[in-house]
Amino acid sequence: MSAAGPRVVSFLNQKGGVGKTTSAVSVAHAWARSGRQVVGIDLDPQGHFAASLGLEGLDPGLDDVLFDGVPLAERLQSGRENLRLVPPGPRLPEVEQMSGGRERGWRLQQAIGGLEPFPDFVVVDCPPSSGLLAMNALLATDEIIMPVSCDYLALEGLAGLMRTLMRVERGLNIFTHKYVLVTRYNGQRRLPREVLGKLREYFPGQVLQTPIRDNVALAEAPGFGQTIFEYRPESNGAQDYIAVAGDIEAYRVLEPAAAE
Ligand SMILES: Nc1ncnc2c1ncn2[C@@H]1O[C@H](COP(=O)(O)OP(=O)(O)O)[C@@H](O)[C@H]1O
Ligand SMILES: [Mg+2]
Repeated sequence: MSAAGPRVVSFLNQKGGVGKTTSAVSVAHAWARSGRQVVGIDLDPQGHFAASLGLEGLDPGLDDVLFDGVPLAERLQSGRENLRLVPPGPRLPEVEQMSGGRERGWRLQQAIGGLEPFPDFVVVDCPPSSGLLAMNALLATDEIIMPVSCDYLALEGLAGLMRTLMRVERGLNIFTHKYVLVTRYNGQRRLPREVLGKLREYFPGQVLQTPIRDNVALAEAPGFGQTIFEYRPESNGAQDYIAVAGDIEAYRVLEPAAAE
């Protein structure tokens, strides 16, 4: 979207369990709490983004937008002050199987373009897959944030994802900025520090400045339909996500030089 529209930020990684939803919810609410107008898009049929805000994922939602061209504004639900959300809706899994060519990939981008007035940010929580839903995110997005949990397999998966995205983008003649967000970081242990060092080396200028520490409150909060800022406002998780929301907004990254 950009220039004339909202900043569209997608949390994407085809791997599950890396912190996409946790990051989407927390960053969206951090921005909303600082007065930005935010629209959340729950692009995962599992509806965890909606559930984390205490909303029902099976309410009419994005499926109607992507299938029938219903305006996004008609499917927005109130999540928190300054934060509205579109739930996935019951038919979203079928979108992944839809045929009908490339045109279908642009539906989300068109729907966001129809929002009036524009919010400041649109935050998209992507499913752990790489089909038509992820394509809709890619074609609507200014910035892709790739959460990566700090284990040894993370690096390999991420390099592959980065290559795939760049190839798809070349084919479509589009460009997105791509950032790596380190999640579940434990700076006391050697391996995570090494992984972070490698990330800075392999993806120079693309690793967001603040790693998210491992923090059990982040795992507990969704069970109460609360965000980390409601559930444990003093926690490391809350502090880290406030910092990351600022990092994304200001494009703050770690220096490319290897760590330590
Ligand atoms: N920084 C963290 N510390 C502890 N647990 C986390 C952290 N980030 C995510 N989790 C937990 O890890 C699991 C996977 O996170 P989630 O955000 O759902 O990943 P994804 O959306 O990529 O599948 C969830 O149970 C979540 O609560
Ligand atoms: Mg998720």
